[in-house]
Amino acid sequence: MESIDTLRQELLDAIAVHESPREVLKHARLRELFLSISTRDPSERAAFGKALNEFKNELETRIADREAELENSDVESIDVTAPWDITHGQVELLPTEQGSRHPLMRELERVIDIFTRMGFEAIESRQIDDDFHMFGSLNFPEDHPARDGYDTFRTEEGFIPPAHTSTMQHRILKAGKEKLEAGTPIAAVSYGRVFRNEDVDATHEHTFYQCEGVYVSTEATLGEMLGTLKRFFETYYSQQLKIKTQPAYFPFVEPGLEFAIEKPAALGGAPGEWLEMLGCGMIHPNVLSAAGIDPTKYRGFAWGGGIERLVMLKYGIEDLRHFESAKLSFLRKFA
Ligand code: DAH
Repeated sequence: MESIDTLRQELLDAIAVHESPREVLKHARLRELFLSISTRDPSERAAFGKALNEFKNELETRIADREAELENSDVESIDVTAPWDITHGQVELLPTEQGSRHPLMRELERVIDIFTRMGFEAIESRQIDDDFHMFGSLNFPEDHPARDGYDTFRTEEGFIPPAHTSTMQHRILKAGKEKLEAGTPIAAVSYGRVFRNEDVDATHEHTFYQCEGVYVSTEATLGEMLGTLKRFFETYYSQQLKIKTQPAYFPFVEPGLEFAIEKPAALGGAPGEWLEMLGCGMIHPNVLSAAGIDPTKYRGFAWGGGIERLVMLKYGIEDLRHFESAKLSFLRKFA
C-alpha cells in the first residue's frame, strides 16, 4: 500500500502538466505494481489488488479531466466586450450597428406620455402578485366562474404572474384615498407585462402588455370616461375617430363595457369596421369599499386594454408573435 502512496503524488503531478496525459499510465513502477499482485502474500492479495484498481481509476479520472482541459485550451478566448477583434492578434474593428428601442417599449412610452399629459400619474405594474390583487380585491367571489376567463398561471407557492394590470387597482385606490378625501381626484394609469396560459397564435401570446386607468372623484361619470378614452385614441392615432360601446361583464365594474373604435380609413379600415380596443366601466362599489373608499361619496371609472393591439393597428402588423420573437428583420423596420 505504501508503494501506491509514494507513487500517487508523482503520477498526479505528471498528469497535471503532461501534453499526452495517458502516457503516464505507462510508468514503469505502476506496471511493476500490477505485476506484483500475483506474487503477493495471499492474505493481502485481494486488498492490494482492490487498492491498486482504485488508484488506477483515480488516475483515469484525472487523465480525462486533463484531456478536456487540453481540448478547451485550443479555443482562444474571445473578449465579447471588446469593440475590435483581438482573436488573432490583430486589432480589427468589428462592424457595429446602433441598437434601437423595442417598438413595443417605444409605443408604450407614447401611451404613457398621452395619459400623463392628461393628468394621470403612471405606475408600472408588478410581474408577480397574489390572488387578492388578481381577483379578491376586484370583486371576484371565491370559485366564481369569471376567474376561469383569465387563464391564470400560478407558482407552486401560490403566487400569480398577473393576467391583467387590474391587479394594480386596489393599490392605486388605497394610495390615493387620503388625497381623495382632501379633495384631489385619483387619476392613475398602470402599465406592464401580463401573462396568460394561452395557446400561442397570431393573435394570442402568453406574455403581453396592458395599460390600465383608474379615475375616482366625487362626480366621475361614464361620459367623462368615454371622453377621456376618445381623446386618448385620437391623440395616439393622430386623427378623429368614431367610437362605440357595448355592454360586457367584468366583476369589478358596473356597468361594464367594451369600447370600440371605427378602424380609420388611413389605416386600411372600411366604414362600419369596428375594433374592440379595451374593457371599461364604472368601478364597482365593492372595489371602492375594499380599498376603504366610501362608495356613497365617491365614484370612479376604470379601463384596461392591450398595448400590442394598439401598435398592430397603427403599423399594420399582422402577427402578434413578432413582438416577442427578437427577429432583427422585424425590429429593424422600427429602428
Ligand atoms: N382587466 C380586463 C381584462 O384584462 C380589462 C378591463 C375591463 C379592465 C374593464 C378594466 C375594466 O379596468 O374596467 O380583460
